[in-house]
Amino acid sequence: MCGIVGYIGKREAAPILLNGLKRLEYRGYDSAGIAVVNGEMQVLKRKGSVSNLEEFMSGTVMIGATAGIAHTRWATHGSPSDRNAHPHMNVSGDIALIHNGIVENYTSLKKDLIGQGYAFTSETDSEVLVHLIDRIWKADPSLDLEGAVRQALRHVEGAYGLCIVSSREPDKIVVARKGSPLVIGIGEGEYFIASDAAPIVEHTNKVVYLSDGEMAVVTRNNYTVKTIENVEQEKRITELDFSLEKIEKGGYEHFMLKEIFEQPEVMRDVMRGRVRLDEGRIQLGGIEDYLDRLKQAKRIVICACGTSWHAGLIGEYLIEEFARIPVEVDYASEFRYRNPIVTSDDVVIVISQSGETADTLAALRLAKEKGAMVMGICNVVGSTIARETLCGMYTHAGPEVGVASTKAFTAQVIVLFMLAMALSKGRTISHDEIRLYLRDLADVPDKVARILEQNDAIKEIAAEFKDAKNALYLGRGFNFPVALEGALKLKEISYIHAEGYPAAEMKHGPIALIDEDMPVFFIATRDNTYTKIISNIEEVRSRKGRVIAIASEGDSEIGRLAEHVIYIPQASGPVMPLLTVIPMQLLAYHIATLRGCNVDRPRNLAKSVTVE
Ligand code: F6R
Repeated sequence: MCGIVGYIGKREAAPILLNGLKRLEYRGYDSAGIAVVNGEMQVLKRKGSVSNLEEFMSGTVMIGATAGIAHTRWATHGSPSDRNAHPHMNVSGDIALIHNGIVENYTSLKKDLIGQGYAFTSETDSEVLVHLIDRIWKADPSLDLEGAVRQALRHVEGAYGLCIVSSREPDKIVVARKGSPLVIGIGEGEYFIASDAAPIVEHTNKVVYLSDGEMAVVTRNNYTVKTIENVEQEKRITELDFSLEKIEKGGYEHFMLKEIFEQPEVMRDVMRGRVRLDEGRIQLGGIEDYLDRLKQAKRIVICACGTSWHAGLIGEYLIEEFARIPVEVDYASEFRYRNPIVTSDDVVIVISQSGETADTLAALRLAKEKGAMVMGICNVVGSTIARETLCGMYTHAGPEVGVASTKAFTAQVIVLFMLAMALSKGRTISHDEIRLYLRDLADVPDKVARILEQNDAIKEIAAEFKDAKNALYLGRGFNFPVALEGALKLKEISYIHAEGYPAAEMKHGPIALIDEDMPVFFIATRDNTYTKIISNIEEVRSRKGRVIAIASEGDSEIGRLAEHVIYIPQASGPVMPLLTVIPMQLLAYHIATLRGCNVDRPRNLAKSVTVE
């Protein structure tokens, strides 16, 4: 949610900052802005994408400045506009600030500041911060920028990732974090600051992650990290393990398509070293020491949002099927506000691609408070959720840049599959059964590659439905969460209204929507629900709905019932979601691009939702 970049060193700051913003644009693209310090402060900001800002900047002089900050915004308070864009400045124009997060008490702070004569130029909550710092600094000129920021933050409620520069102290950047991630990249005589590692990786692979409640002062020669209460902190330098190539498009038209096509490789990476086919066992380093406790859980509660929540639902089916441990799946946002019953006998699993989703993080903290053991499944290494959980597993899907989650989802499902196997071992299923299921799982990447070969045919089907106003997605059993995921993918990137349902639920309401214009995507693979699904297809056909089926290779019957069939390789029910979701992703992608939508940057969305 919003992207932050900062640079201080020997090189021209502006191009580095602009380039960094481009790498972060998936975090928000309502507006972008930049501030550099070169004797005096120069600030430029523009509504719209980073390229708008770049165009606006051409011909302006930011030359010679070797320190600065920049921001790409996802609006929370105040519409997307030039004046609501960050950086925000104090009245005398010598402090510039960028902010991710939400200042919850901004109304009262703003009222006080207006009462003291401060004039506001934007509708944002963030602007109060710069005036507050200004007021504190003016009231006590013996403070430095760091001191003024520190004091200001004592008055602030809410979440922030902050970067502040001042022409009064041109050789430093002050940063602070509470609830919104910040990373410092360590170069040779230069430092980079960012809200995630994507803009840093091309410059250095050495980073320091700030923790909540920490501030840092970054100069050309060093950085110091203290708590907001002014206690010095020892920080560990982490080496990033992803390359620039991994965050670029690699010849694909969109990140989303690249990430869909990366899935066979990603799936192999997720399993690498963990699935021991020859021995018929699973090795899960991140949770090994906690496995016994996990097996003894009276109940497992899975908390997540969006696509990660869909993966959690599949996790529920897998863990209950194999390990016979009761599982509940909660939206993190509901869990945190409904006073859930959680005890120390429970295990709470939080799932998050970004590892920064505010609701999921709050659910994690609540579960910990209530004494549950909390385990994480995250993609972003070193993310807040990964750090705050007792144990966990990384999905190793590599950076996911497309706003619509694809490869992170299938990686999460594989991790949950492996977890279900590990929880079952020695308890609920035999060694031979585990071996068979692992074989099935290990075959998935090749099968996914075969499905991807049908991309052109899937695009042709997509073309027929690109002008649909609504769509229904139906599946049963392990494929029900895939129906939800298919519908979410379509609506978020194409803006077509879509609903996912358990197929049998259709007759309890949604069937009323079916007419000759309604595409109904059925997941109708050969498993124990197949004959029931066929009856559901008949029900749709008799109401003239347009049926598109995802079916198993060799199914000779289904072609008679469906207008279009996408055949996928056969596999056992528990691994099926990993296959059936692929046509769903491709259909959504093609429908959206054929409608002219920007799939990597769908309207109103951002990659990492660090606000409630
Ligand atoms: C949908 C999508 C979102 C995320 C959700 C949770 O394609 O990407 O629904 O799944 O915002 O994000 P994470 O997994 O980062 O917690």
